[in-house]
Amino acid sequence: MFLGIDVGTGGTRAVLVNRAGQVVSSCGIEHAAIHSEHIGWAEQDPEDWWRAAKEAIGGAIAQSKLAGNEIEAVGLTGQMHGCVMLDADGKVLRPALIWCDQRTQPECDWLTQKIGFERLIELTANPALPNFTLTKLLWVRTHQPEIFAKIAHVLCPKDYVRYRMTGEFAMDMQEASGTLLLDVAHRRWSSEVAELAGIPMSWLPRLFEGPEICARIDSQGAGATGLAEGTPVAAGAGDQGAGAVGMGILAPGSVSATIGTSGVVFAATDAPTMDKLGRLHTFCHAAPGVWHVMGVTNGAGLSLRYFRDTFSGGASYDELLAEAAKVPAGSDGLMWAPYLFGERTPHLDAMARAAFVGITASHTRGHFVRAVLEGVAFSLKDTFTLFEDLKIPVKSIRLGGGGARGKLWRQIQADVYGQPVELLEAEEGGAFGAALLAGTGVGAWKNVEAACAATVRVAEAIPPQHADVMAKAYQEYRRIYPALKAIQGN
Ligand code: XUL
Repeated sequence: MFLGIDVGTGGTRAVLVNRAGQVVSSCGIEHAAIHSEHIGWAEQDPEDWWRAAKEAIGGAIAQSKLAGNEIEAVGLTGQMHGCVMLDADGKVLRPALIWCDQRTQPECDWLTQKIGFERLIELTANPALPNFTLTKLLWVRTHQPEIFAKIAHVLCPKDYVRYRMTGEFAMDMQEASGTLLLDVAHRRWSSEVAELAGIPMSWLPRLFEGPEICARIDSQGAGATGLAEGTPVAAGAGDQGAGAVGMGILAPGSVSATIGTSGVVFAATDAPTMDKLGRLHTFCHAAPGVWHVMGVTNGAGLSLRYFRDTFSGGASYDELLAEAAKVPAGSDGLMWAPYLFGERTPHLDAMARAAFVGITASHTRGHFVRAVLEGVAFSLKDTFTLFEDLKIPVKSIRLGGGGARGKLWRQIQADVYGQPVELLEAEEGGAFGAALLAGTGVGAWKNVEAACAATVRVAEAIPPQHADVMAKAYQEYRRIYPALKAIQGN
């Protein structure tokens, strides 16, 4: 039995998975709300992740009725890029700046100037974006030098939970790719970037491949979680890497489209495919010798949640989606540009703003909801368009996250992507992939590919029904961002 732990943004989830790939038990615990002192800022308290992780692990173990020592290995995954800063005693120095925090554009500009746009992509495979960990560290250096002076260790969110369970500072290659401090092509820290940015290499944790066992539960971790002392802990991967493992996305041609808070189109590659313009992320994958590219839309599931929380007057998701299902494909010309938290792919514009475009008095609430779902799918389609430009093959598309769960959003995705989309028998998100990495680490499967072959099964393929309408609407959608930019000019 393997335990996967996903330290997400909204909450932490623990799942127990057996060797047949069945989820035996799972438990999710919510986090405190994201703290946002100013527009575009987003912080969370690492201690709160640890509280949620302890409760989730305890809950999953209790539900399974297993004893802690029946769990053979643990794998970790979680929200990527967050910057956890610890002092020499391992104490958290300030709340973590998390992935969707957008405050670091000035630091991005500084870094790009210092290293050069092209050189930075040569060194790390990626451009400087506010989401990436290094830029958050640079912000702290500028604005909170007294805190910066005390930093001794830098971790990402799930790696902090690992530290609390094992006492080890460790990170996997896939996660490290999102720090902007990794030499992605050679799978090692980039001493050149660290030096140019002024970050001591001693702050960076040891690196491991996703399935490698990098630590063991220590006595404090055992006491806090109910796991047995000495249980092996695999390095794991960031949520996108582990999620892709859980969906069997490992070979070139296999692609996933996952809509969670953010939305991601993810393709596995057998070499680092660099986009010279930096519009896609190029990262190491969670399996050794595999890389991946991904396009990220910041406000995907977030768009629907925002709409519900702000405009729906207490209506539930089910009510809103039922209204949207009655609206024709194309939402009678109403469109949504989902740039609630700026945008990554393809615009790389932290200042981008969201918009509804094309409202008429005959549009109902259902039109707005459908437009939101379509707008998110269009923004993911932008990544498929880039894949075409970069000759990244797309043989099959598997859906994941909340966007795979509802019938309507699935169909909209098939229509917008213009090809069939596959649903998996069990799509359990990153925690499932993390459990597979843990199992691989202790030899249950000979490698990550074998783990996926043994456990991931396609349940059905959904063909497009309105591909023509949506292809036309997509061309209109592409004209929204430049127009918004011209209005807002920032
Ligand atoms: C990936 C990304 C998000 C976060 C939060 O680059 O930023 O997927 O990991 O889920």
